[in-house]
Amino acid sequence: MITSILKTTAALLAVVISVAVTADRQPLLDSNTRFHPVISQKGMVVSQEMIASQVGADILAKGGNAVDAAVATGFALAVTLPRAGNIGGGGFMMVHLAEENKTIAIDYREMAPAEAFKGMFLNSEGDVDNRKARFSIQSSGVPGTVAGLVHAQENYGKLSLKQVLKPAINLARNGITVTLTLAESLAARSERLQSDAGTKKYFFKKDGADYQPGELIRQRDLAATLSRIAAKGAAGFYQGKTAALIVEQMERSGGLITRADLNNYVALERTPICGDYREHKVCAMPPPSSGGIHMVQMLNILEGWDLKALGHNSADYIHRLVESMRRAYADRSLYLGDADFFPVPIAQLTDKNYAATLRQQIDLDHASRSEDIRPGLVDNAESTETTHFSVWDQWGNVVSNTYTLNFSYGSGIAVEGAGFLLNNEMDDFSAKPGSPNGYGLVGGIANSIQPGKRPLSSMTPTIVFDASGAPILATGSPGGSTIITVVMQMVLNVLEFEMGIAEATAASRVHHQWLPDNVFYESGISADTLRLLHEMGHVVSDQPRRLGASESIESSADGVLFGAADLRRHGSGAVAQP
Ligand code: DON
Repeated sequence: MITSILKTTAALLAVVISVAVTADRQPLLDSNTRFHPVISQKGMVVSQEMIASQVGADILAKGGNAVDAAVATGFALAVTLPRAGNIGGGGFMMVHLAEENKTIAIDYREMAPAEAFKGMFLNSEGDVDNRKARFSIQSSGVPGTVAGLVHAQENYGKLSLKQVLKPAINLARNGITVTLTLAESLAARSERLQSDAGTKKYFFKKDGADYQPGELIRQRDLAATLSRIAAKGAAGFYQGKTAALIVEQMERSGGLITRADLNNYVALERTPICGDYREHKVCAMPPPSSGGIHMVQMLNILEGWDLKALGHNSADYIHRLVESMRRAYADRSLYLGDADFFPVPIAQLTDKNYAATLRQQIDLDHASRSEDIRPGLVDNAESTETTHFSVWDQWGNVVSNTYTLNFSYGSGIAVEGAGFLLNNEMDDFSAKPGSPNGYGLVGGIANSIQPGKRPLSSMTPTIVFDASGAPILATGSPGGSTIITVVMQMVLNVLEFEMGIAEATAASRVHHQWLPDNVFYESGISADTLRLLHEMGHVVSDQPRRLGASESIESSADGVLFGAADLRRHGSGAVAQP
């Protein structure tokens, strides 16, 4: 009797379920996740600052392509996110052009001035003077952002440079409303920033008081500088009035950048580093970024294990991540630098057989010690800021861009009269073999200071392709030395663990960089997992910290875009093309 009731109920249920299955399709947004992305069937911009994302989305709506929108967003961030958005810094842009089916890597990293030299940051004892390397006028490399953005726009955009610069010029001229985030970020660094006359003038009130949330900051000198770029292209920055203002600033305070340095600066197109991860292709920046090489190297090592079966963020999974990271960052310290100056062994580092050798060295039950791989001990304490944005248009063109002043507000020195902050990217060189930079990264001859050389970077703007060659993911992150491992975990979360983009972004991250021999982790990694890692012999840091801030777009096979701004940073935003 009971059996027959159960059978009847089961049959009825089967009918109900099958009716539901046949009558309704799964609604697009109704997936089984706690985290929802922004969705679009046209284009999308995801950046660390909502107004700049909106600027980009509006450019898409005006018929601009992904490059137009990216350039507009990049210039807008220079106004709305002064701690990282910039025209006084540099970065990297990956562009995928749908029609040509071509992927381009634009290098607009800063360059050491002609008068720079190897020991320029050493004091009389031969030790690195960190203040000079990070906060002096000499800490600035020749800025590359304007050359990079203009190069991208002139070669691959559809609109005019004037059109894409207009929103940034208006924001600078008419003012932006100070958010709590901006007010706090400036106030926290008030003493350092106010020690420079230009920075004080541009980012604090006349009497030196902090701006309060809700007040307006107008950046008129910046608006004029941006207008000169709109009128004359890159020459409006590297020549003429802006160049004169930069050189005057250098001459007043002992900086090294000359007119010739500015004149000689060029953005370069380089061959992206692409690696296969199972059936996907992952493409990112080549040197002077270390990002592409080491992400591919780590993915090559990790590909040899069934990561999914281990479970996301299980101790066994994190152990494999950490051991791969440790080995990649050890190689980084020795082999990586600007490949125009040092023979970086790109093919060997990204070779699957080399990865297999490294994989075999990894004990699956016990942590190795970084000092057994390469000796040294460093600390890692500076506050930092870089910013990433991703753009996708209705035609399938994709931009993945990371740029930076290096630290928050760069050197803290603004070009007086021109309204923008200068980077402190010279600290990304290895000022002395074995001495850590602001991210605890060590290096040697490969990344030593030389005139015209570009400092080694970790920035990893990335585009991932499916087996058919179609782009499916654009991602990237700030975070100094942690960028490469953060971006790699984004890629693994999407490809290996099949997370939606918002969940992949929210998932807790870990980081290891060989030296210091420390597993850094975010809140959300369970105490049990940390205990297991400790029992394996890992040195787990005593507190969680925040790792990166990815701004990503994923495309489904039918072309629907899913965007996720990283909630680790206030004010970030994914904006769909209206
Ligand atoms: O190029 C690099 O690797 C560093 N200058 C990036 C700095 C950075 O990511 C700061 N952000 N949080």
